Amino acid sequence: SHLNINPNVKLLKVATDPTFVPFESQTINGNLEGFDIDLMNAIAKVAKFAVEFESLPFDGMISSLQAHRVDAAISGITITAQRLKTISFSRPYFKAGLAIAVRQDNQDIKDFNSLKGKKIAVQIGSTGADFAKTIPNAKISTFNSGPDFFQDLLNGHVDAVVSDAFATLYAIKNGKLKGIKVVENLLTEEYYGIATPKNSPHLDAINKGIATLLSNGTYKQIYQKWFNA
Ligand code: ARG
Repeated sequence: SHLNINPNVKLLKVATDPTFVPFESQTINGNLEGFDIDLMNAIAKVAKFAVEFESLPFDGMISSLQAHRVDAAISGITITAQRLKTISFSRPYFKAGLAIAVRQDNQDIKDFNSLKGKKIAVQIGSTGADFAKTIPNAKISTFNSGPDFFQDLLNGHVDAVVSDAFATLYAIKNGKLKGIKVVENLLTEEYYGIATPKNSPHLDAINKGIATLLSNGTYKQIYQKWFNA
């Protein structure tokens, strides 16, 4: 394609799970958009490599990196000690955390302790799923993509969703999730990083790219586009 015209420009295959507004989602025309997409494209521009995105389910992303099927993944991926055993991460690029979401009329779920014994929906392979395992007697349902677990919450099939606060708050604020509220914002403190196969040769360029965007104002511009609109 047009990306390959200059043979000296390295083409990186970057995985993303575009079910996570406003970090990555797919427009009706099938184009990818979001904070992560803009950030990755901006990094590529300053670091002088080309990017080809590949949509993958979130749950398969880490094994795809381990198998070197992709060069990197950007997908609101939380840097965790567990994941660092098998893959590498760039420097953190976003401060995040988990939140509890319930139906607007719910009165009894207010905090971590009130989740005991409740039916909880999470995304497979996410930090929300790990967190839910620590709730005593919780009945956990797992979903492949973000929007589906909110549907189950609205339908009354589950009592709560544990997932990334920014994405949940954004969806509520933009009217796509009518009837849902967040009861406890930031149960955890997490940082997103760009994931790569272990000790990838591209990490250095990615990290330098992030540093450049932080210092030249581009990071701030992208942040404002998606979060202060
Ligand atoms: N931050 C959470 C994690 O790393 C969830 C990320 C979900 N991202 C997505 N594109 N579906 O586990």
